[in-house]
Amino acid sequence: QTRHVRERALEALTEAARFFYAQLHGPQGAQALAYFQRRRLSKKTLNNFGLGYAPDSFHALLDAMTQKGFTKEELEAAGLIVRSDRGTYYDKFRNRVMFPIIDMRGDVIAFGGRVMDDSKPKYLNSPETIVFNKRRNLFAMNRAKKTKSEYFLLAEGYMDVIALHQAGFDSAVASLGTSLTEEQARLLSRHTKTVIVCYDADTAGQSAAQRAIDILKKTGIRVKILKIPGAKDPDEFIKTKGADAFRKLIERSDNDVRYRIEAAKDKYDFTEDDQRILFLREAAGIIALLDSEVEQDVYTTSTAKLAGVTPEAFRQEVKQAKIRLR
Ligand code: CTP
Ligand code: MN
Ligand code: MN
Ligand code: MN
Ligand code: MN
Repeated sequence: QTRHVRERALEALTEAARFFYAQLHGPQGAQALAYFQRRRLSKKTLNNFGLGYAPDSFHALLDAMTQKGFTKEELEAAGLIVRSDRGTYYDKFRNRVMFPIIDMRGDVIAFGGRVMDDSKPKYLNSPETIVFNKRRNLFAMNRAKKTKSEYFLLAEGYMDVIALHQAGFDSAVASLGTSLTEEQARLLSRHTKTVIVCYDADTAGQSAAQRAIDILKKTGIRVKILKIPGAKDPDEFIKTKGADAFRKLIERSDNDVRYRIEAAKDKYDFTEDDQRILFLREAAGIIALLDSEVEQDVYTTSTAKLAGVTPEAFRQEVKQAKIRLR
């Protein structure tokens, strides 16, 4: 019974993806196609990701799917239509460009839909359903799992991942809006030893990155962090500076300790002595938290050099910080 319900939901979602795809390339789709072109997505990328368009109607999908033999109950279970208070049903996604979410087996299990202007909500996602467990899936994992790259890139959003793949970075995945879950981290750890976190440059993105790093490290993954200078996210960076510039960011990505020290450094003006001292105090606090003596030694030496003091003097500061922790 449940097996049949699941199967029908998957059938409905695949059929819906076909419908959205056809709409994008049909007479109603001109605006959506222009939107994707403005965002620099090629025809090939649209096809690779099965992108589509949900028309500006409360029943376009409902009608098309009813024609195909799906019942309202099946469509509701698939998260494609919504039941109103009056008991009538209507399309969940309307006048949005559509991003299918595909699982590791290659089945469409959900959608994200984006408005083409500044209205809210910017993205609307499928609800949790019998086939869609948000916590267990990563956007584009079905493609990224085939990569030859030794690292995976973890980004925030649909467009980041798509822009990364289009630029040749075929190991990019996104955590679907929510902050990274332990299940998603475990899924990554089964496919790679190294994850480079490239979340948005804003403070929300950076604190989400910090949480993601801690979760990834618990699974034993080696984590690096990529800072995006002069752009708000990977998509924008690639659009303005190009793929080669992004490759350089990858090469320069830091491990998380160095990243935290660099982030601290950015807060202080090194031409002022008292600011350098404050930086060293903060950096000592970061180093004091490290588990191993060797690690502490490595960062003590390099941080002292960074701020132009002797390692011996800075070692005292780290010792003080360790005492404060006890
Ligand atoms: N997100 C969401 N619902 C929202 C806003 C965001 O589910 N209302 C998720 C989406 O998966 C989105 C990601 O969080 O891709 C990151 O959000 P944000 O940085 O705001 O969007 P971008 O991915 O940069 O989208 P775009 O470039 O299209 O504006
Ligand atoms: Mn069946
Ligand atoms: Mn963001
Ligand atoms: Mn963006
Ligand atoms: Mn973004």
